[in-house]
Amino acid sequence: MNKSRRPLIAGNWKMNAGGRDALGLATGVAKASAAYDAVDVVVGPPFTALAGAAHALESTGSAVTVAAQNMSAEASGAFTGEVSASMLKDSGVTWVILGHSERRALYAETDEIVTRKVAAAIAARLRPIACCGETLEEREAGRTMEVVERQVRAFLPELAKEPGFGVIAYEPVWAIGTGKVAKPEDAQAVHAMIRGLLWQSSETLAHATRILYGGSMKGDNAAGLLSQPDIDGGLVGGASLDAAGFAKIAAAAQELAR
Ligand code: PGA
Repeated sequence: MNKSRRPLIAGNWKMNAGGRDALGLATGVAKASAAYDAVDVVVGPPFTALAGAAHALESTGSAVTVAAQNMSAEASGAFTGEVSASMLKDSGVTWVILGHSERRALYAETDEIVTRKVAAAIAARLRPIACCGETLEEREAGRTMEVVERQVRAFLPELAKEPGFGVIAYEPVWAIGTGKVAKPEDAQAVHAMIRGLLWQSSETLAHATRILYGGSMKGDNAAGLLSQPDIDGGLVGGASLDAAGFAKIAAAAQELAR
């Protein structure tokens, strides 16, 4: 972590806690993380719970903000079942996770689609958390840097339009939901490469853009990752479903940010 960037710890609830249980989890996170004022804390419920969570957090005066997990690249119209960036924004949502590896692998989202979504989010003043990361096969073939570079180069021009508004999340696919967290120095190497790509665009973009690590991050491994110079926070799946456990990650970030 570099102290010039405010750490960001974002939860990705995936397809969990989207009903009545969402409010308890969102307000539980708000309570458990209230003391960590040097950290941006974000919860990521399913679509059904976004407006409710945003409203509940706002009405309690919490600083915790809300992220959607996906959205349409289209603005409006005949796209049955889809949700647009402006609808999310109108519902009180601040962030949107885009290009998560599960979207890429299971719903055929290409670099081009992800980039269109990043552009649409920014146009609607919704802050993108744009994801990248290699599969196990790609890592074993020594292609990690090449794959991540290709993914980042696709959406980077959109992020460059407003340095710091968007965030990048590096999530090695083999570390997601597996309990196999990346070694801090291995994650740092990829983060440094991404920072280098941002530098090629502008110094401001490189300094302002937060790059999160994701993949089996938990309270007990967060400090090692977050102490790396180019790791500015976390995108947390499994461990974000427990308010106290999630808050431990925010506590680790707070400790390093002071
Ligand atoms: P995990 O998921 O923390 O459960 O590995 C991370 C993610 O998919 O964003």
